Amino acid sequence: MRKLFKVLGVIVGVLITSVLLVVLVTYLITEYRWNRTYELTMETVEVSADPAVIEHGRHIATIRGCVDCHGENLAGRIFIEDPIAGRIVATNLTSGEGGIGSSYTDEDLIRSIRKGIKSDGKPTLFMPAYEYIQIHERDLSTLISYIRSVEPVDNILPDNKLAIPMRAMYVLQGNIPLFSAEMVDLSTPIPTIEPVTLHERGQYLATSCMGCHGRDMKGGTIPGVPPHWPPATDLTMAGSMATWIEADFFRAMRDGRTPDGRVLNAEFMPYPILGTMTDEELQSLYVYLSSLGQIAAADELN
Ligand code: HEC
Ligand code: HEC
Repeated sequence: MRKLFKVLGVIVGVLITSVLLVVLVTYLITEYRWNRTYELTMETVEVSADPAVIEHGRHIATIRGCVDCHGENLAGRIFIEDPIAGRIVATNLTSGEGGIGSSYTDEDLIRSIRKGIKSDGKPTLFMPAYEYIQIHERDLSTLISYIRSVEPVDNILPDNKLAIPMRAMYVLQGNIPLFSAEMVDLSTPIPTIEPVTLHERGQYLATSCMGCHGRDMKGGTIPGVPPHWPPATDLTMAGSMATWIEADFFRAMRDGRTPDGRVLNAEFMPYPILGTMTDEELQSLYVYLSSLGQIAAADELN
């Protein structure tokens, strides 16, 4: 009996030590990557006070999801706070108290947005720059003009905190997008060529869906979100959209209702903001999505 307890004691001891070791190693790896400094790049665009330009920038900030995390007025907010992730805080982008608006240059804003690198060279946390690095010069210029135009809001926010489970998932799973700076090619210049055809424009806009629906739009578990989130739907023609017509897609994107009577949950699928896309933008997305996975769908029929 005593021998058994001894053996059990050793097993428990080894288990506890291994867990502590994993915690320590994941902590050290994330601290190292979070505090790494990247070379500062200096890129700029033309900034304008023209109301039409600013209005377009506001539209870009909406359909690209900036307002989803940074708030309608860009004054920032705590957008995740739970025991798994920790506390993740989207920055106050205005020039009010607690905001970066007055200390950041246009170059600093552009570097954060496109590359996920702060003005001190450290990586931004959970800021999806990998979706924004391909935003072309004209859209970027309207976006910066809009950020520069917003009302200053005093909003002093707490610091970010990364909880151990999120650190462990990041290190062990490898697909949690904690630091965009690691995920993009930092030498990519601001694109000057704009998409022309509906298909090209749809592909350009669809980069805003990839964070959840995946690079291939085939959906599945969304990396890094809380466990109560449903998987994202397959948006290719191998998924439920294969039987939809364009009007069905418009209704899903604007009212959150699918042709088979399901109601999408705006907590997970941000249709209230994505649905503000113009008819032409939604149409181009539909054309692009309809071109995905057609071959796979045809294969299944055979
Ligand atoms: C998924 C949520 C999310 C979305 C979408 C998002 N951001 Fe952020 N953003 C963050 C978080 C979180 C931070 C804070 C990162 C940090 O403190 O390390 C941040 C930081 C920033 C910063 C400042 C970084 C710094 O240097 O301190 C800028 C500028 C910024 N975001 C602009 C934008 C713009 C413009 C968009 C839309 C094109 C956008 N963000 C979309 C989450 C988001
Ligand atoms: C923040 C994550 C997120 C983003 C960004 C996002 N989606 Fe979704 N989407 C989801 C989730 C999760 C679901 C499943 C919702 C549910 O089951 O209630 C979904 C469902 C959908 C559906 C319904 C499909 C069906 O058959 O039920 C469509 C259509 C859709 N998304 C299109 C898009 C498009 C187009 C974009 C980009 C412009 C986009 N989504 C961006 C998370 C997201």
